Amino acid sequence: MSASRIMDGADPRADWLLASLARQAAVMEAMAAGARGGATTGDAEGRALAWLGVQGQAARYARNLEARARGRLAQRWEPELAAHGQVLRRHRDEADQALALLDPDVVSEARRRVGLRVAVVGKGGAGKSMVSGTLARLLARRGHDVLAADLDTNPGLAFSLGVPPSQGGLPAEAVEEHAGAAYGWRLRSGISPAEAVERFALPAPDGARFLPLGKIDEVDKTGPKRSLVALLEVLLGFGNPSWDVVGDLEAGPTTPFERYHGFADRVVVVVGPAWRSAMTARRLLPLVADIPTTVVANRMRDEPDHPGIEPAVRIPFDPAVADAERRGLAPLDACPGSPAVEAVAHLADVLRGDHEAGRHHDHDRQEVAL
Ligand SMILES: Nc1ncnc2c1ncn2[C@@H]1O[C@H](COP(=O)(O)OP(=O)(O)O)[C@@H](O)[C@H]1O
Ligand SMILES: [Mg+2]
Repeated sequence: MSASRIMDGADPRADWLLASLARQAAVMEAMAAGARGGATTGDAEGRALAWLGVQGQAARYARNLEARARGRLAQRWEPELAAHGQVLRRHRDEADQALALLDPDVVSEARRRVGLRVAVVGKGGAGKSMVSGTLARLLARRGHDVLAADLDTNPGLAFSLGVPPSQGGLPAEAVEEHAGAAYGWRLRSGISPAEAVERFALPAPDGARFLPLGKIDEVDKTGPKRSLVALLEVLLGFGNPSWDVVGDLEAGPTTPFERYHGFADRVVVVVGPAWRSAMTARRLLPLVADIPTTVVANRMRDEPDHPGIEPAVRIPFDPAVADAERRGLAPLDACPGSPAVEAVAHLADVLRGDHEAGRHHDHDRQEVAL
């Protein structure tokens, strides 16, 4: 893209968009450089993993670009968006070629080490935070590096993770004002998504790391607004393939329009027994359909499944979870062996199983074909 077209723009929104594409290109180049560097130093499986990381990241950025290409600015910036698509495709092709040269068994082994990337959506009260926090910690207990992010301006993930609620969102040094960014703030120039995770993700139990949007008891919503765009950029651009990433998303159907789920390779739709919870799920499902979905029924007693939304996992209503909430404890600390926690462990198995069956890789393949 030409610098003059950026500079001439009195349109801060366009400036933000083009800067975002440049940042994405820098993330891709850094990942590819790491993978190329590993060709002389790393073990074969590590090399394969690094290239799988490049592949996955190119696919996620490409999905994001496809959504952008339908946006308001798309027509004016069509050449820049198309050029960015080419950049992503080049990285994808380089990764494909590098992987093709490696022993297929080694690549399969590396594929098993690629982490889950899960966005959890659903109506308020459905149990998104309970599922996200418990899932993140269970994955961490299985020995994975885990990043758990709270994208809900009504934060609940700190509680279900068992992190003290006093901690706020990204600090002032992580963000900068930009007139073109939604809410007026973005990730500070010069801080990459990987560096942001390293520097600003808070320690959580079981070794998980936590990126909150705001404090759990925050009334003033300007803090979360300062963090939101930066946090989305961090999640979308954090492509370290050995990490599991779990995002607890805001309730309601606006977030899919803004592609909060864009960082994920799988969307978990949590649905409660209430009719309105099912209605929200039905609205959400087509909006997140560019990414494979898994439906989870939560707080179930004896209710039949909602028509047309077959859950892959059913989490029972569990008085021990409700009691943990009253005591201000994470379910995993208060009632580790309870039926609801066991069901979330089953969800972790299901997600892992689908992941290893390679379903989302096939999906990436289609999506990245720009
Ligand atoms: N399986 C369950 N059994 C009993 N209570 C639950 C269960 N799942 C969640 N809860 C409780 O329901 C409430 C809403 O859950 P939460 O995870 O905060 O929902 P969301 O994040 O979707 O708004 C919380 O009080 C939580 O403790
Ligand atoms: Mg919540």
